[in-house]
Amino acid sequence: MESMARHWYFRNRPAGSIDDDTLEYVTEAMDPVPEGGFLVRTLLLSLDATNRVWLSDWDIYMDPVHIGDRMRGFVLGEVVASDHKDFPEGSLVTGLSTWSTYIATQGDEFQPFICPPGVDLAEAFGALAVAGPTAIHGLLTIGEPKAGETVLVSAAAGAVGQLVGQLAKLQGCHVVGIAGGAEKCQRLTERFAYDAAVDYKQGDMVSQLGIAAPEGVDVLFENVGGDVLDAGLTVMNDFGRVVICGLISGYNAKEPSPGPYMFRNVIMRRLRIEGFVILDHVDRYAEYQQRIGKWMQDGQLNFDVHVVEGLDQGVEALKLLYSGGNNGKLMVKVGERDRD
Ligand SMILES: NC(=O)c1ccc[n+]([C@@H]2O[C@H](COP(=O)([O-])OP(=O)(O)OC[C@H]3O[C@@H](n4cnc5c(N)ncnc54)[C@H](OP(=O)(O)O)[C@@H]3O)[C@@H](O)[C@H]2O)c1
Repeated sequence: MESMARHWYFRNRPAGSIDDDTLEYVTEAMDPVPEGGFLVRTLLLSLDATNRVWLSDWDIYMDPVHIGDRMRGFVLGEVVASDHKDFPEGSLVTGLSTWSTYIATQGDEFQPFICPPGVDLAEAFGALAVAGPTAIHGLLTIGEPKAGETVLVSAAAGAVGQLVGQLAKLQGCHVVGIAGGAEKCQRLTERFAYDAAVDYKQGDMVSQLGIAAPEGVDVLFENVGGDVLDAGLTVMNDFGRVVICGLISGYNAKEPSPGPYMFRNVIMRRLRIEGFVILDHVDRYAEYQQRIGKWMQDGQLNFDVHVVEGLDQGVEALKLLYSGGNNGKLMVKVGERDRD
């Protein structure tokens, strides 16, 4: 067993994008296993767009990360020492914890993690921890797509977007994705069941959407905001549903972002707009995870992960989300399992 652990600490609030002095990588003596608790070796750390939101001074949906705290993140780990009857040594756990190589805990923030048989561990963690429940809840519970309708998804090649496309196709919808660049757009139609792709980097999204979604859009699954949201609002059909899952284009903004300019379509097209945070729906996680897990096990789901090696690369890796540098669900490989 190692005697030292490494952690990222939040040091300075960024004004815009995360920079070199926002977080600090620190090596410390290992925290002792608490009485009645256990020690987790982190295997994978999920990087999520909302990590930047947690470092802001906005009034957000949960307690932010405070300056001086260890950075917060979703982790998958292995219990390597335990004084807790429900979390034996060798078991896999997942939870909202910290950017650390080892985590000593009473266990309240962790749940057992069951990897569906035959499924790669990183893919299972990437799909089950956040992206899968988010895609299912946002699309099906809020968007309520019906067969024959058109669903439009932004950041469509990302962690959530790739799942929303495949789910919407299973509902019998015409599915259109927006992504940045020819290669990502190709993956939308070839791997993630999209019928058509729009490359926002080519400009004039509204004209491109007119071709990709000739019948207009009934459900907009919004992950980006800004110009992308405006283009989507412009092509909505009457009584459409706009699911606000994320607004990543504004997370690094230094100034308040103007728009959306086509907000008038909320009344012209009689739209329903609803935002959600998946952490409010943990009571439905088991149901959502079971559904995604079965889908993966049956080999019916394509799910791409983008794994960066080493916790020391955490900050550089996180930046990929805001530049579009990630190809699939972004995570960091932190440690190896003792046994498989
Ligand atoms: N509501 C919830 O509970 C919940 C839960 C999870 C995630 N989310 C939200 O869902 C969204 C997607 O998250 P994810 O984890 O699946 O990340 P992701 O899509 O895997 O990665 C983010 C992607 O966003 C796109 N992007 C970033 N900045 C952009 C910009 N300025 N303009 C256009 N596109 C931009 C990039 O794709 P391109 O290369 O295509 O530009 C990038 O790859 C985020 O907004 C996140 O906050 C919400």
